[in-house]
Amino acid sequence: MIVDLRSDTVTKPSSGMRAAMADAEVGDDVYGEDPTVNSLEASVAALLGQEAALFVPSGSMGNQLGLRLLAKPGEEIVCDSLAHIARAELGHAAAFSGITFRTWQATRGVIDVEAVRGLISPDAGPYLVSTKAIALENTHNFGGGTVQPAGQVAAVIELARSCGLALHLDGARLWNAHVASGLSLAELTAGFDTVSVCLSKGLGAPVGSVLVSTADRIAEARVWRKRYGAGMRQAGILAAAGQYALEHNVERLAEDHTRAARLGDELGANPGTVETNIVVLDVADAAAVAGAAREAGVYVSALGPRFLRLVTHLDIDDDAITRAIEVLAPLVKG
Ligand SMILES: Cc1ncc(COP(=O)(O)O)c(C=O)c1O
Repeated sequence: MIVDLRSDTVTKPSSGMRAAMADAEVGDDVYGEDPTVNSLEASVAALLGQEAALFVPSGSMGNQLGLRLLAKPGEEIVCDSLAHIARAELGHAAAFSGITFRTWQATRGVIDVEAVRGLISPDAGPYLVSTKAIALENTHNFGGGTVQPAGQVAAVIELARSCGLALHLDGARLWNAHVASGLSLAELTAGFDTVSVCLSKGLGAPVGSVLVSTADRIAEARVWRKRYGAGMRQAGILAAAGQYALEHNVERLAEDHTRAARLGDELGANPGTVETNIVVLDVADAAAVAGAAREAGVYVSALGPRFLRLVTHLDIDDDAITRAIEVLAPLVKG
């Protein structure tokens, strides 16, 4: 038995999802003629309470497009130092959009409005780089699946508005934040100018993310998506997987959260740190633990010298958790 806890991106489409993909009505999406893509975009925009949406191949592209709509070359966007956009998207903002980042430190990725206030520098030219936007992440991946406290999000939105800054939300796992907090998706995204959500993480679709914003911004993002070479043709086959995921796999994320909590309890995660489907363990030698666990068929991610990450998902059931605990407990406690 292989238990793959490296990420919630490793899920394989279920038979129901594959059937939906096979049956999807399709057309040429570059001409705007794919009915399944159009319908997915309309449903995600409505769910998130935004005017319009654009289906894109990946969360990285959703973020890239979102950020480039908010800042121009030579301008900056601020985010926390563990943000996926800063740590794991290979410098896209600099490489493709000429945008620089500055970052604030955040424990477990939790937003600290005073740290943001201390960092931003709106209208700072011509001597300093002007901040144009603030980017947040909810849930926070490298923070350990942290749900951002609603009060802090509201305070950052107010801060941004008061100094004319825009806001981007990396909502790759917004669905997890919704299920864990009980807040609606629209409540979680209210006040943001651009939001990217992923269908290929906990929701179990093989490919696809969606960027939402105003109709004008999404029209501009559509041009940039094509310019990046990501105009897709009969993409309805992929969008159908996303639509299926929205209909079948959102509320069940609660099961992933319960299983992650069990893993965290049994493996000694810091109390209160497992809020959704990600468990972070502080171990003496993360690479050694990951290597030994792999030999026993349990895959986990070593993301730093002491940083071990385990992620529950659709393809992990209770037996898999039991097996993971059997293999990992002696390794992380020993
Ligand atoms: C928080 C967050 N944002 C963005 C992404 C990027 O998504 P993708 O791998 O689809 O580019 C990820 C991927 O794990 C993520 O965890």
